[in-house]
Amino acid sequence: MLKTRDQAPVNEPERQYYFMDICSGYVKKLEEELGHKPTCCVTTFGCQMNSRDSEKLVGILEKVGYDVIEEETKADFVIYNTCTVRDNANQRVYGRLGALHHQKKKNPNMKIALCGCMMQEDAVIEKLKKSYRFVDLIFGTHNIYKFAELLTATFEEKGMVIDIWKDTDKIVEDLPVERKYFFKSGINIMFGCNNFCSYCIVPYVRGRERSRNSADIIREIENLVKEGVVEVMLLGQNVNSYGKNIEENITFAGLLKKIEAIEGLERIRFMTSHPKDLSDELIEVMKNSKKICKHLHLPMQSGSTRILKEMNRRYTKESYLELAEKIKKAIPDISLTTDIIVGFPGETHEDVNETIDVVRKVGFDNAFTFIYSKRTGTPAAAMENQVPEEIVKEEFNRVLEAVQEVSKERTGGLEGQVVDVLFEELNDHDSTMLTGRMSNNTLVHVVADKTLVGKIVPVKLIESKGFYYMGELVLQ
Ligand code: SAH
Ligand code: SF4
Ligand code: F3S
Repeated sequence: MLKTRDQAPVNEPERQYYFMDICSGYVKKLEEELGHKPTCCVTTFGCQMNSRDSEKLVGILEKVGYDVIEEETKADFVIYNTCTVRDNANQRVYGRLGALHHQKKKNPNMKIALCGCMMQEDAVIEKLKKSYRFVDLIFGTHNIYKFAELLTATFEEKGMVIDIWKDTDKIVEDLPVERKYFFKSGINIMFGCNNFCSYCIVPYVRGRERSRNSADIIREIENLVKEGVVEVMLLGQNVNSYGKNIEENITFAGLLKKIEAIEGLERIRFMTSHPKDLSDELIEVMKNSKKICKHLHLPMQSGSTRILKEMNRRYTKESYLELAEKIKKAIPDISLTTDIIVGFPGETHEDVNETIDVVRKVGFDNAFTFIYSKRTGTPAAAMENQVPEEIVKEEFNRVLEAVQEVSKERTGGLEGQVVDVLFEELNDHDSTMLTGRMSNNTLVHVVADKTLVGKIVPVKLIESKGFYYMGELVLQ
């Protein structure tokens, strides 16, 4: 008997599995019409949260019968998982939509879906409804788990299907996921953000902070390890506030201890850590851990206490420096990386000097430097003293130069040492070589057989090339 929408189970995730079944029927029919298995291509913009969400989309797409391909121009279904943290991310999406429109005119069976953070903004939805009518499906960050149900609707209804939620307190688990790498995986430990840094759109598009129960996280990681995963990346906008809003009495450090105990798991990474609530307990756990990688991404955003206050970051230049010092003292071989914003409203030449001062004092291994982007709806966008573009560019270059200088000094110096490397993929330029990652996140290129991909292997570092090393396998 044919399944219908009104008989769908109410509970999740059963409801979505029901829709995957219905959707498979439509995809099969499409396959008969096209004469080939329908193809789809998912493009991810933005951060690792979005990459993880895309793996969930791909899991469902494969389950309902799509062939997932890399080339967008050959796809019968194109999905953009969007980011809106800076305006250039939005502009890229609009630019590419123009090209997609042409592709769709040639392939009338083609479907286009947009999801992710950009879709949580009213102005974006208005613009899409007005000028991009050829888009078939639009959904947001809170209801991504409903993808199977929404995709089914695009086969049953005419015109654009739009479903955007303002917020949610729901966490739906146990849906299909197709990982990009068989040996490593991102794991959401929490969703949303409550920090409201004054420049940032994320709390508005990802909603309020929600932590998952540790038992669910542990179960997910144990299952991944059974499937061959050796490295996990714990994901949250501010992992240091993990556990604050659930009944379970647990901190992020406590969660790490539980994860450390999972047999077969070899490496643990996490991001992102907000400096304001990085605890001594966390430093202690990192110090004593055999599995937590020697890398901490600790976004500072600015080195000026005045600007940090305006940014609502809730720490000062001095407290940031103290924290970095404490971490380096406890874990001397740790690699510290950061994010910096240049051109926040009211930022002066002197403020930028303070930022450069912190860059030099901490000695970051790497820093991602961004030009401030005005995000409508955030408090900073309404500030009157926006900095002119030419000045921002100059200041940005000054920071970039300092960052490059410092990180060049930091990397290198490990020649001759033997370190553990997790091989991740074939080298882009030379297929006799593999590219892998040290615990501190530095890349290493080594002549090695591709059967070593996914394995952690001792490597002798032969030559530093600035930001990466050339290495040699150490025969065991
Ligand atoms: N939750 C993380 C950051 C997530 S966004 C944290 O608090 O550290 C990633 C980075 O984008 C931020 O660290 C910040 O440097 C940058 N960013 C966020 N909003 C921005 C904006 N409006 N303009 C420029 N860069 C921004
Ligand atoms: Fe944005 Fe601040 Fe939340 Fe990070 S902590 S996502 S920068 S509001
Ligand atoms: Fe972008 Fe959303 Fe991540 S706005 S940075 S994809 S949380």
